[in-house]
Amino acid sequence: MASSMICFFLLLLLPIAFSEPTRYWDITGHGENYRGLDRIEGTKFRIISQNEEQVEISFSRKWNGDSHSHFPLNVDKRYIIRTNTSGIYTYGIFERLPEWPEVEMGQVRIAFKLNPDRFHYMVVADDRQREMPTDDDRDIHRGHAKALAYKEAVELTHPRNPMFKNQVDDKYQYSCEIKDNKVHGWISTKSHVGFWLISPSGEYRSGGPIKQELTSHVGPTALTTFISGHYVGTDMETHYRTGEAWKKVLGPIFIYLNSDSTGNYPSDLLWEDAKQQTKEEVKAWPYDFVASSDFPSRKERGIVTGRLLVNDRFFTPGKSAYVGLAPPGVAGSWQTNTKGYQFWTKTNETGYFTIDNVRPGTYNLYGWIPGFIGDFRYQNRVDVAAGSKISLGRVVYEPPRNGPTIWEIGVPDRTAREFFVPEPYKNSMNPLYLNHTDNTDCGNDKQSYIQTVILSTQLELVTIAKTGSTLINIGDSTYEPTTWQIVFNLPYVNWRGSYTLQLALASASRANLQVRFNSEYSMPFFSTGNIGRDNAIARHGIHGIYRLYSINVPGRLLRTGTNTIYLRQAKVFGPFEGLMYDYIRLEEPSRD
Ligand SMILES: *[C@@H]1O[C@H](CO)[C@@H](O)[C@H](O)[C@H]1NC(C)=O
Ligand SMILES: *[C@@H]1O[C@H](CO)[C@@H](O)[C@H](O)[C@H]1NC(C)=O
Ligand SMILES: *[C@@H]1O[C@H](CO)[C@@H](O)[C@H](O)[C@H]1NC(C)=O
Repeated sequence: MASSMICFFLLLLLPIAFSEPTRYWDITGHGENYRGLDRIEGTKFRIISQNEEQVEISFSRKWNGDSHSHFPLNVDKRYIIRTNTSGIYTYGIFERLPEWPEVEMGQVRIAFKLNPDRFHYMVVADDRQREMPTDDDRDIHRGHAKALAYKEAVELTHPRNPMFKNQVDDKYQYSCEIKDNKVHGWISTKSHVGFWLISPSGEYRSGGPIKQELTSHVGPTALTTFISGHYVGTDMETHYRTGEAWKKVLGPIFIYLNSDSTGNYPSDLLWEDAKQQTKEEVKAWPYDFVASSDFPSRKERGIVTGRLLVNDRFFTPGKSAYVGLAPPGVAGSWQTNTKGYQFWTKTNETGYFTIDNVRPGTYNLYGWIPGFIGDFRYQNRVDVAAGSKISLGRVVYEPPRNGPTIWEIGVPDRTAREFFVPEPYKNSMNPLYLNHTDNTDCGNDKQSYIQTVILSTQLELVTIAKTGSTLINIGDSTYEPTTWQIVFNLPYVNWRGSYTLQLALASASRANLQVRFNSEYSMPFFSTGNIGRDNAIARHGIHGIYRLYSINVPGRLLRTGTNTIYLRQAKVFGPFEGLMYDYIRLEEPSRD
């Protein structure tokens, strides 16, 4: 790092960052007798370790049987301060005993509210950083902003800084996939200080590598979310039954502070240094200075290697595939898992993978491969013992397919990326997305277009329809289902054969997709039933939960010549029901 960078020490920086104590762990959810938010204040303070190099302290709380005021959980919040380290590590050990009452824990996170007089510039990624509006600018009660259709979104009608006038602000504009959500934070104007939240690992998060989570947003707020239903919704496993024991170490994360004496603002140095520090933290993972025996050291963890091949009529290496170990379950169950640890990596060009630093335990090996439909799960469970090295050798994924492709729409990659997104109103947009590129290193990209339109116009337009869904506003906030047609020609039909429609969805929110063949008004031949609460449409995502339907289509439903498939999203409550397509393919009957 440039010599101009002076690493201040913590005690100097912390009072600058916070005007008052505004950092907390919290849980949102509900149990038998209560509902709400629990700030998890510790009731017991302990020094866990203390030497020349570091101090680890604990603020803990044991559940006292009072389910009216607290979640039935034992919580041990730890903080580690190390010499010559410009920041604080923090992690939490959460535990519930089987006999405790059932509970729903929808969200567990650490939140920081920084000093609004100082922190104005937010950085989420190289191409997602800007001067931000303030909480006050979002105040609808004082007439500074106008509420929009989705609860978190406002239009900044009278911001203090005219630069933000008429822009839409919504914290979900800054969401990021977990695999990319490693560092984000704020830069202070006055003191040239950077405040960063660094997540060196995804093991303690939930929902797998492409689950999207919030990062930083107006406040100035910075969050690390461990468990949430964002972009997944009610399908997320956040319910704990009576009889169910649970223990999980959340973190450690690193709260990093840096400063820049050059006086430049906004300082590229601070962001570059924060990224560099993130690399250091990732390299040091799993940290060897964590005192809790619930956090295994590197040598107490295992390694799993193998080579993924795909057999989609012929064998190819499963290249650039996602493979991961997650708690045992059905294929794809990692998408909704919050309770266990997950360890993900990508295969190389020839399909080889190495998953390291795996905590001892029993897992399934899961995966998916861009370019192929469906979810992979290796047939055997994988038992990882401390210090073990497990070589699985060749593992083969056979994606669903019943016959050769007749036609296909889209690219199977679990996003609606290739589908049309309507043009937004440029003057209401968040300028971060004016010059959109598809290769942002942080999750959501073009979807921000979709939602800015929706939110800024209060849904006066036909909006989501073309991204793969849904509803048309026919005035007075009344919505009607829409039907898509796929028109295609078949020179020959095998009447006795069974064709297959492979239908992959990237997202669904209270939707019901009906499929009809050559008859728009008949009873649907297939319907998904009511699916999804992932809210990805309302929250600027181009993907939520992945679903694949393999629909058998008897040849008698098809015709020689022109055919039409009608796809109707039939569910209507309000503006945000809908779905997004990932990929659609029609297959000939099997030739065997
Ligand atoms: C901390 O930094 C100082 C100054 O660079 C150095 O003298 C000292 O040895 C360092 N201490 C540790 C524990 O690394
Ligand atoms: C992929 O990894 C394997 C095993 O580590 C290695 O032998 C091979 O050279 C790698 N291939 C590429 C293209 O990097
Ligand atoms: C977007 O691109 C145009 C033309 O390339 C440029 O003039 C403009 O400054 C860019 N806007 C932003 C916000 O980057």
